[in-house]
Amino acid sequence: MIMIKNKAALAKMRDAGQKLAQVMHDTLPTVVSGMTTAALDAEVEARMRALGLHPACKGFKGYRHASCISVNDIVVHGVPSPNVQLKAGDCVTIDIVGISQGYHADMARTLIVPGSVEPAPEVVRLIAVAEQSLKRAQEVAGPGIRLGVVSRAIQQVIEAAGFGVLRDFVGHGIGRQMHEDPQVPNFDTGDEGPLLRPGMTLAIEPMITIGAPEVIILPDRWSVQTRDRSWSAHVENTVAITENGLEILTQIR
Ligand code: MF3
Ligand code: CO
Repeated sequence: MIMIKNKAALAKMRDAGQKLAQVMHDTLPTVVSGMTTAALDAEVEARMRALGLHPACKGFKGYRHASCISVNDIVVHGVPSPNVQLKAGDCVTIDIVGISQGYHADMARTLIVPGSVEPAPEVVRLIAVAEQSLKRAQEVAGPGIRLGVVSRAIQQVIEAAGFGVLRDFVGHGIGRQMHEDPQVPNFDTGDEGPLLRPGMTLAIEPMITIGAPEVIILPDRWSVQTRDRSWSAHVENTVAITENGLEILTQIR
């Protein structure tokens, strides 16, 4: 069942989204070569708490960190670790979920660790295409549009660029729960999907690969790695369907 949020609920999600975007805005420039992903997670958690945001990942299905930090061939759900040290040229995704007044916001961005190494052009393009596919989804989605149209638009951008899109993981509705109905696939499922309506809130999150889109889950039971070890990117926004279009709740300002 897809929960429709009223004005009061949307105000709380907007608050969660703006605070989460502030955390991302402040965190991205702090990513440097030599930093461990555990240190990055600690920074994220401190910033969330400073803004009064509860880190929703902590305790979710036994997960023990405030963020997922996914490096290179890890697509999503990378577990922050003192043993994983970032180096210049690495392709890093920071994925965070915050709760304000009982409502969730969820967002992710991918960046290349700055430093002495020139960023690989193919990785720069990978990240740009992930961002373009999310932007396209946000342009296409709106009241009266079938979700399947949005899913196909995302896939189109990614595959036209020659990249792969994960089938095993999808976006989701979001609100009081981190994951609500509907599922938000980034590919054609053969189903037209539900009709989008004002008050629906969605986490749209294309997960893309340079090579094949098949993934495995590592023995830590979280990290999702490409089967062919090709590098990957993941971007995500929490959005609300409105009367006349769509509002990006996690817009970085
Ligand atoms: N941000 C992730 C999502 O989109 C949640 C990661 S799982 C968690 O679903 F354990 F880290 F919360
Ligand atoms: Co999500």
